[in-house]
Amino acid sequence: MVQDQAETVSARIADWSREAPQRLWDPSRRLLRAIRKYQSWRGRRGPVAYLARRWWANQHRLWSLVTQCEIYIEAEIGGGLIMPHPNGIILHPDSRIGPNCMIFQQVTLAAGETGSPVIGGHVDIGAGAKILGAVTIGDHARIGANAVVLQDVPAYCTAVGIPAKILPPREQRAVSPLPAPVPGRAPATRSYG
Ligand SMILES: CC(C)(COP(=O)(O)OP(=O)(O)OC[C@H]1O[C@@H](n2cnc3c(N)ncnc32)[C@H](O)[C@@H]1OP(=O)(O)O)[C@@H](O)C(=O)NCCC(=O)NCCS
Repeated sequence: MVQDQAETVSARIADWSREAPQRLWDPSRRLLRAIRKYQSWRGRRGPVAYLARRWWANQHRLWSLVTQCEIYIEAEIGGGLIMPHPNGIILHPDSRIGPNCMIFQQVTLAAGETGSPVIGGHVDIGAGAKILGAVTIGDHARIGANAVVLQDVPAYCTAVGIPAKILPPREQRAVSPLPAPVPGRAPATRSYG
């Protein structure tokens, strides 16, 4: 993703349409909806508010069970989160996530001795990635699949590998000449679904 494309999705203003359930069976959006609704009834008094909180807390339990995700009901998550394959996503209760992020399956945000991860806006976190400790991920950054991130990632950069190394934005990377194609072999592609 080049910087121009990244700018088309805001890192500051939540796009709530990304979270709106699109069909009856839409576990990730149903889970998020339970969290949002529960939080909207927080701090309100009276029997209606009490019953509403209980209802949404039970919805949260149900969809957590379905997805096997652990996302705290009081979690601080910016609007517009997308979880395309919501399975096994574990977010530490103290971690914070900015607006319009995308989190793939089996991602873990874990606390360390010095604190918990802080994720900026419009950050994409690839499948299986682990972000550990008081690490700050800048806006529009990308975390590669299975990366183990132990250091801050500046805005627009990409983190890959174990432990993760930081790559500058694509347009700032040195272009190395392509190797000569091997006869009879299809060219490698880098398109991941
Ligand atoms: C990291 C990612 C976002 C690509 O970012 P990018 O900036 O376009 O990176 P490039 O493809 O140009 O690769 C840059 C370098 O990182 C390496 N790299 C890319 N992804 C990597 C990964 N997940 N782990 C380790 N290294 C990786 C490449 O091999 C390349 O190395 P080289 O410079 O030595 O050749 C992408 O590879 C990725 O991991 N996306 C997650 C997708 C995902 O989880 N999908 C789930 C679908 S169910």
